Amino acid sequence: MKAFIHDIPKAELHIHIEGSLEPELMFEIANRNGLSLPFNSVEEVRRAYEFTNLQSFLDIYYQGLQVLRFEEDFYDLTWAYMKKARAQNVRHTEIFFDPQAHTRRGVSFETVVMGIHDALVDARQQLDVSSKLIMCFLRHLSAEDAMETLRQALPFKNWIIGVGLDSSEVGHPPEKFTQVFEKAREEGFLTVAHAGEEGPADYIWQALKKLKVSRIDHGVRCTEDPKLVEKLVAEQIPLTVCPLSNVKLRVFNSLQEHNLKQLLELGLCVTVNSDDPAYFGGYIEENFLAVQKALNLDQNHIYRLVRNSFQASFLDQREKQNLLAELESFMSKSKQRNLRRDGEGNP
Ligand code: ADE
Ligand code: ZN
Repeated sequence: MKAFIHDIPKAELHIHIEGSLEPELMFEIANRNGLSLPFNSVEEVRRAYEFTNLQSFLDIYYQGLQVLRFEEDFYDLTWAYMKKARAQNVRHTEIFFDPQAHTRRGVSFETVVMGIHDALVDARQQLDVSSKLIMCFLRHLSAEDAMETLRQALPFKNWIIGVGLDSSEVGHPPEKFTQVFEKAREEGFLTVAHAGEEGPADYIWQALKKLKVSRIDHGVRCTEDPKLVEKLVAEQIPLTVCPLSNVKLRVFNSLQEHNLKQLLELGLCVTVNSDDPAYFGGYIEENFLAVQKALNLDQNHIYRLVRNSFQASFLDQREKQNLLAELESFMSKSKQRNLRRDGEGNP
């Protein structure tokens, strides 16, 4: 099962690039930028990663990303994630970034997006991993601030497939951003939103009805509303679920109590993702391994989760079909291996 999870071609649809900043790289970038960190060592940073809820994580996340100042920093951050993704057989990834977390510190939108984009182009060429970029609005800031950020993104429209919504959920309902998302859709952006992570099922309804999103990020609280579950199943609206994140941020007390298997068995289009891997103890493969063990998932569960991730991606039809064909070819080889192995065990 371990080899199967490692080898199976995957797509990741919910990863905040700033959340992939490992403490080692944080120190390296801080040193070269002449910045001092409020920690003495990598171990001390890791020890600080004990969270009680989403906000307690966000406080540290916004602090950590302050070392990122120059295009090269965003390049190195993104390149490091793409190498890791390649090593875990991620074939396609859709990456969030938080422009406002940088522009409000005086780093230009252009610096951020150029650094990330260049690394994605190199990763496509050198690592054969495809990607899309999704710009998130920080929901604890005003709708006007989000609108200004959307304006700054327009010259880079060809590099950004969609807009999303993240940061502190409770008290910042999706409807606060109805106009911004309307304008974003008019400009040709696809839309997604974090909803139903800590916030109620009603926030998922709002994201669907007011922001007209194509996917819900997290969405695990949908089970509190059977009518909502019915809609998500009927329309196969994808949920990008992040199991280790949900336990670290205490959305669930343990992985054993996570509702991922229940969601899958209800017929929802669920996917497995890492969210902020440097902070939550694992990348996509570690998420799969942990959830497989905790919920006793079989190979068919894993296959369905992975197939969902390709189907829910923003790839065009041809690229999607190519990756789905790669998955099917992997599965048939894997079945042959299983048959041979079982055969060898017989007299
Ligand atoms: N920003 C980074 N990670 C996030 C998460 N899990 N929820 C909301 N905002 C985030
Ligand atoms: Zn997230």
